[in-house]
Amino acid sequence: MSADAVDTSKRRFLTAATAVVGGVGTAFVLVPFISAWSPSAKARAAGAPVEADISKLEPGQMMTVEWRGKPIWIVHRTEQNLKDLPTLNDQLLDPASEMPQQPEYCKNEYRSRKPEYLVAVGICTHLGCSPTYRPEMAPDDLGADWKGGFFCPCHGSRFDLATRVYLGFPAPKNLEIPPYYYLSDTRILVGEDGEAA
Ligand code: FES
Repeated sequence: MSADAVDTSKRRFLTAATAVVGGVGTAFVLVPFISAWSPSAKARAAGAPVEADISKLEPGQMMTVEWRGKPIWIVHRTEQNLKDLPTLNDQLLDPASEMPQQPEYCKNEYRSRKPEYLVAVGICTHLGCSPTYRPEMAPDDLGADWKGGFFCPCHGSRFDLATRVYLGFPAPKNLEIPPYYYLSDTRILVGEDGEAA
């Protein structure tokens, strides 16, 4: 065998070995990833609770997480928002939340566990569109009395910042409040009532 032939066969072996190691390496990386991913994806589809980090949510801002395929809004209400809510009662269909649209611990004037944070299912109770967050005061299209809330673009239903529906619009109920509780001051678990429910 010539020196050239030896070198060539060594090169082939090294190439093959590299390919196998690469293949094993790829499989090794993929398998744990898939096994870690599949159960949580299945669990999410089945309605597993979802954690939300609200530490960066400034007053006036809203964030959305997904739970059971639905948008869950979390709004950090301002001091002014909290003052305005009780003043709207006579314009609302169900101001005291008499309809079963929330857990018992949210049947209060803010429809929430803590006044400053709203947690609500962002689906209109008319025909299921997702309303738009409209936090600004008295915008031209919503009128001088508008104190912030949600506007449904499909048929015009309006909701305040506790997601209570205004009278005279097609949505027949307030938006739904999901079960949730605070894991800490800055973390909310959506989908469970927690021990203190
Ligand atoms: S779906 Fe919202 S008003 Fe009709």
